[in-house]
Amino acid sequence: MAALRTREVDPGKIILRTMTMDDIPDIMVIEHESFSLPWSEEAFRNELTLNHFARYLVMEYDGGLIGYAGMWNIVDESHITNIAIRMDYRGIHLGERLFKALMDWAIELGMQRMTLEVRVSNIAAQSLYSKFGFYPAGTRKGYYSDNHEDAMIMWCELPNQENETGEEEGSEED
Ligand SMILES: CC(C)(COP(=O)(O)OP(=O)(O)OC[C@H]1O[C@@H](n2cnc3c(N)ncnc32)[C@H](O)[C@@H]1OP(=O)(O)O)[C@@H](O)C(=O)NCCC(=O)NCCS
Repeated sequence: MAALRTREVDPGKIILRTMTMDDIPDIMVIEHESFSLPWSEEAFRNELTLNHFARYLVMEYDGGLIGYAGMWNIVDESHITNIAIRMDYRGIHLGERLFKALMDWAIELGMQRMTLEVRVSNIAAQSLYSKFGFYPAGTRKGYYSDNHEDAMIMWCELPNQENETGEEEGSEED
């Protein structure tokens, strides 16, 4: 079960779009309230300008930024770098919506599988990932430098785009 509802949100007013440089100040607020090892502004700037593998989505509501998520797509594997929802907006299935949008984007880009690392203590995130078919596939010992906590590595096989859109394989005429 997700955390207690803290806000009423009209789901029809949620906007999902790609991240731009102008989003970075708002991202930093969410980053600092969400992670004990927050990324710097420069890290996000580099992601948007230098890292050709990187793709980032943001979620907007009522003119404000309330979440973001990103991935690195390399060949046919997508590595999720981060996902966060503003604290006041957690527990009302917005993380789920954002995560699904990221997965759909990866599928659209032809990715075959997705992976991520998550703190072994982060049950909320693990539970979210499990809902989308991610399974544990090992640990990275002492991965997080603040408290030397282990990371759980999770993987998920993605459906191919044809199956996702309901088209049958081999249905096209030669
Ligand atoms: C992880 C995070 C993005 C989830 O976003 P959210 O909007 O609060 O989650 P949702 O309301 O969409 O919940 C979706 C599912 O996640 C899981 N979940 C979410 N919050 C949970 C909680 N407090 N306890 C247990 N499971 C939880 C549940 O499986 C839930 O489905 P359910 O409500 O049907 O049981 C959010 O908690 C967050 O930003 N955390 C801080 C940053 C972070 O830890 N990111 C992940 C790094 S690996």
